[in-house]
Amino acid sequence: MAILGIDIGGSGIKGALVDTSSGKLVSDRVRIPTPETPKPKAVAGVILKIVEKLHYEGPIGCGFPGVVKHGKTYSAANIHKDWIGYDAEALIRKTTGCDTFFLNDADAAGIAEMQFGIGKKNSKGAVLFLTVGTGIGSAFFYDGILIPNFELGHLDVKGKEAEHRASDAARQDHKLSWKEWGKQFSLVLRTYDKLFSPDLFILGGGVSSRYEKFKEYINCDVKVVPAELENLAGIVGAAMAAEAHFKKS
Ligand code: BGC
Repeated sequence: MAILGIDIGGSGIKGALVDTSSGKLVSDRVRIPTPETPKPKAVAGVILKIVEKLHYEGPIGCGFPGVVKHGKTYSAANIHKDWIGYDAEALIRKTTGCDTFFLNDADAAGIAEMQFGIGKKNSKGAVLFLTVGTGIGSAFFYDGILIPNFELGHLDVKGKEAEHRASDAARQDHKLSWKEWGKQFSLVLRTYDKLFSPDLFILGGGVSSRYEKFKEYINCDVKVVPAELENLAGIVGAAMAAEAHFKKS
């Protein structure tokens, strides 16, 4: 079934129709820059444009960069604070006329990666999927089952939030070499290992395609592998989650 998956990001809002049985896109991927002031109504306007561009009328899955519970958004580290406590699903439903399901963006990307990417062959035990981009997103799976809203990007790692220490944005802002960034990111991975003892880390997000540049600087006892679906995972997983949600209800 083709479902519209949307990935709300700090710099772009991306969407495409996804064949949820294969995880493949069945339309163009539309990308519109995130509004400068990304308040809920401004973002909803962008989502409407994507819906119209793709002539779409079915259910929508939306990955959001913050905590999502029962259709409402509860945190907003890298998006406008007006999203805190907001009924996001109701807004998008009203704006587009389409049934809408919201979930955390890293949870969405993790779902896709576990089903159609590297996680396919590695789903046993505890898997910690991380998206490293503007922030650090995290999705925790045990035997393939997701525990949502893990939010490890904000964990304190030696006196600094993990994502302020080692997101891709932090690498660029502090002009870190791959070696320097790798050292910071390894500290983060070792802290996560100490607390959650994963069997595997999967690295997604902006840095996953540049894994070769920093893999030699990763220093951690747990196996680390790059994700395979790169920047499509968020869209694909959002569509898959919406399909599963509306099938149940
Ligand atoms: C947010 C997470 C999100 C991650 C990646 C963090 O700042 O708190 O919810 O998954 O950024 O976008």
